[in-house]
Amino acid sequence: MVLGTGGTIAGAATAGAGHLDYRAGSVAVGQLLAGLPALQDTTLVAEQVAQVDSKDMGPALWQALAARVAHWLAQPDVRGLVVTHGTDTLEETAWFLQRVLAPQRPVVLTCAMRPATALSPDGPQNLADALAVAAADGAQGVLAVCAGRVHAAADVAKVHPYRLDPFSSGDAGPVALVEDGRVRLLRPWPVGAPTPGLAQRVSQVQAGAWPRVEIVLSHAGADGRLVGELAAQGVRGLVVAGTGNGSVHEALEAALLEAVAAGLPVLRASRCLEGRVLPHGGDRLPAHPLSPVKARIDLQLQALVAS
Ligand code: SIN
Repeated sequence: MVLGTGGTIAGAATAGAGHLDYRAGSVAVGQLLAGLPALQDTTLVAEQVAQVDSKDMGPALWQALAARVAHWLAQPDVRGLVVTHGTDTLEETAWFLQRVLAPQRPVVLTCAMRPATALSPDGPQNLADALAVAAADGAQGVLAVCAGRVHAAADVAKVHPYRLDPFSSGDAGPVALVEDGRVRLLRPWPVGAPTPGLAQRVSQVQAGAWPRVEIVLSHAGADGRLVGELAAQGVRGLVVAGTGNGSVHEALEAALLEAVAAGLPVLRASRCLEGRVLPHGGDRLPAHPLSPVKARIDLQLQALVAS
C-alpha cells in the first residue's frame, strides 16, 4: 500500500530553465509506482491522500493521513505502508503519525530531493528502498527512508537544504540501511504504545479547531514581548527553542515563567541540531527531549486531549 501526499518526489519540471524550476506534488503516486520493477509476492495499491508541497503540511492533512494509515493498517493482509512525502516537514509528519498511531507494523515515509522529471531522479530508488523496508521481517513503527538510510521518527531531522541525503538521526544514527534491496538492521526497530483514545480524539477534531501552539526562539538579545503577544492571542501552548542544553535568555525566560504562572503550558527544547536537553532538578521550565518542531506536536496533542 502506497499513500501519496506530494513533495519533490512527485515534482515535475515547470517552464523555467533551472534545475530548481519544478512544482512539488504534481505527479500522481500511481505514476511513481509504475516506474518501479514488479515486486515478488507483493500487490501494490496506490492511494492519493494529498498532493502538496510539504511546507504547506498542517494538522487537517495530518488528520486525513492518520485516518487512511489507520484504515490500511487495520486490514490483516497489509504488511506495511509506504507514504510518499516532501522532505521539508517529513520529520513532523513522521512524529505525528508515531505519536498518534504508534503502529506495530511499518509505516515508511519516503521522499526525494530531485523531482520525478529530473535527469537522474532519486525518488524511484528511495521508493524501492521504502518498499523493501515495509516488507522487512520485524519492521515496525514510523520510519523515514532516504538515500539508503532508515531513520526512526523520533530522531530524524532534515539537516541540509540540497544534498541527496538531507536527513540525519543525530547521535542515535539510522535504524537500518538498505543495501541493494536488502535491509541491514543496525539497532532495534522503534517501539511505542499508542496513547489510549488519542487516535480517536484526533479523528474528531473539527476543521479550524486544532489547538494553536507556537515556537519561540531564544537568541542573543531575545526578549519576552512575543510571548506576551502570543498569550494575548490565545495560544494553547508554547515551545521555547533554547540555546545549548535548552537554556533561555533571562528576559525571555521571565516572560515564559509569567505565562506558565497564568496557566499556559511551556516546553523547553534545544535549537541544537544534535543531542537532547538533559533535565536538571532545578529546571523552571520542563525540558523536552526532541526537537522544537516535535515538541510542538506533543504539546498540540496534549492540548487536544485536555480540551
Ligand atoms: C517538499 O517538502 O514538499 C518540497 C521539498 C522536497 O520534497 O524535497
